[in-house]
Amino acid sequence: MTQDELKQAAGRAALDYILPKLDPDSIVGVGTGSTTNCFIDALATRKGCFQGTVASSEASAARLKQHGIPVYGLNSVDSVAVYVDGADESNDRLELIKGGGAALTREKIIAAVAKEFVCIADESKLVGVLGKFPLPVEVIPMARSHVARQLVKLGGDPVYREGVVTDNGNIILDVYNFPIATPTKIEEAINNITGVVTNGIFARRPADVLLLAGKAGVRTLRRK
Ligand code: 5RP
Repeated sequence: MTQDELKQAAGRAALDYILPKLDPDSIVGVGTGSTTNCFIDALATRKGCFQGTVASSEASAARLKQHGIPVYGLNSVDSVAVYVDGADESNDRLELIKGGGAALTREKIIAAVAKEFVCIADESKLVGVLGKFPLPVEVIPMARSHVARQLVKLGGDPVYREGVVTDNGNIILDVYNFPIATPTKIEEAINNITGVVTNGIFARRPADVLLLAGKAGVRTLRRK
């Protein structure tokens, strides 16, 4: 199976997983990225089963609307039944690195609101220790150099993601050579740097379920 086929399998598995939890009033949180795009395409086949969605990026909102799926602002919904999103890495505690697509802040907000966070990925994303994937940090533009210096003090090697402006008008620093042995502590330490909007460690609010697509099928891993 190709990686694209694994992503499609994960997207379909997410639909199967969430359908029994939905009713016609439900709002579905939708993440960002190529795996989530497979989920969006699967979701479009079951439009009558939920009321609409909230989206973690303008790109996902556009894809949902192309399918004729309603997209609401987060402030205009009472609750989010379930949030489905991909990840750049997950450990077996379902702590994640996210933000490869620069949508980490809105992703973290919807994950915080959602009753359940379902992460979808192919098996290449499961790691022992987070941090091989460079950690994305969203930063207020004028604080870029200050934040970069603080990230170096924490032991990382920050690199400005050229040409990328987030949906919130900010920039991204990707932190290389930064193994993350204590995800919650590092998440908090980076978020405490003045000028950081948020960082791509999802440990304070990890996923509840990881649907991991491999050659043998889709495995369901639950938070320990
Ligand atoms: C976007 C994300 C994505 O979920 C993450 O980058 C995974 O993307 P893909 O499914 O394309 O591998 O966090 O900000």
